Amino acid sequence: MQTTAELREGLLSFFESRGHLRRPSASLIPPAWDRSTLFTTAGMQPLMPYFLGREQPPAPLLTTTQKTFRTQDIDEVGLDGHHLTFFEMLGNFSFGQYFKEGAIAYATEFVQEQMQLDWDRIWVTVHAGDPDLGLGPDEAAIELWEKIGMPRERVTLLPTSENFWSVGGPGPCGPDSELFWDWGETFGCRQPDCAPGCTRCDRFLEFWNLVFMEYELQADGSLTPLPHQNVDTGMGLERAASVLQNVRSVYETDGYQAIMDWIASESGVAYGDSDAATKAHRILADHGRGMTFLVGDGVTPSNEGRGYVLRRIIRRAVQQARTIGLDDL
Ligand code: SER
Repeated sequence: MQTTAELREGLLSFFESRGHLRRPSASLIPPAWDRSTLFTTAGMQPLMPYFLGREQPPAPLLTTTQKTFRTQDIDEVGLDGHHLTFFEMLGNFSFGQYFKEGAIAYATEFVQEQMQLDWDRIWVTVHAGDPDLGLGPDEAAIELWEKIGMPRERVTLLPTSENFWSVGGPGPCGPDSELFWDWGETFGCRQPDCAPGCTRCDRFLEFWNLVFMEYELQADGSLTPLPHQNVDTGMGLERAASVLQNVRSVYETDGYQAIMDWIASESGVAYGDSDAATKAHRILADHGRGMTFLVGDGVTPSNEGRGYVLRRIIRRAVQQARTIGLDDL
């Protein structure tokens, strides 16, 4: 397993061979009943009625790669090697079947045997608990990680802001546990407490989120139990590909390089030629993918809502194209 395409297919077929039904990505436009976000932002979002117990899932275990578009970081795209608007989120989902133990066991097997990552460079985070939510530290998850061979010193406890997942408002939610890749001390701040969640450096990269979805967040902020204990996981395909390919930036992975090679051949300006060229390539690659999939799902440029977001990324891409001489685009 080396390419982005192999990683995508590898994860879907891994979970398929373990009883999960493979389903196609839902649209980037959420259905009318879902008013939580403008665009689909997570693999679990189209599956919400199943988690809430309001509809029967097509199978009790599912696996998908979901097109996602996040608007909050549009202006950050281009400035660094990891911000994106459009990306794919791979996931495995259990509706009342396996829970923490199964999710941790599958994730461990996948990263060790399929991705063949160096286990010593994987760290995990676990929810530290939150009195406001009436939850203690997730001792069960800590124990399960230790049992499967994760040394306690590579298990970091983080607060609700980092390790409790909800769709951004009322809906299914739960504490989560995240897998991080350690790029190594040379990329770190070298402080004794440097660990996943470190705000001083980016030594650690989160690439897989395992959500133990057992609550429904109510409008008043309280939690009620869902009918079942479920699992929702999200692996950012592009980030995980950067780990697999041992490149620090998603833009250096094979999927983006193919786009950037095309930009270089059209413009005569290569990625990395100058800071401005690097920024232009990143924005064109990300926004080019984003606008293509938005249009593919039926969004048209306009002055409001989804159409405005599309217009904004087209305009940004055209501006950047001009900086590297692509005037005709
Ligand atoms: N819903 C979680 C996320 O988006 C895991 O899929 O990170």
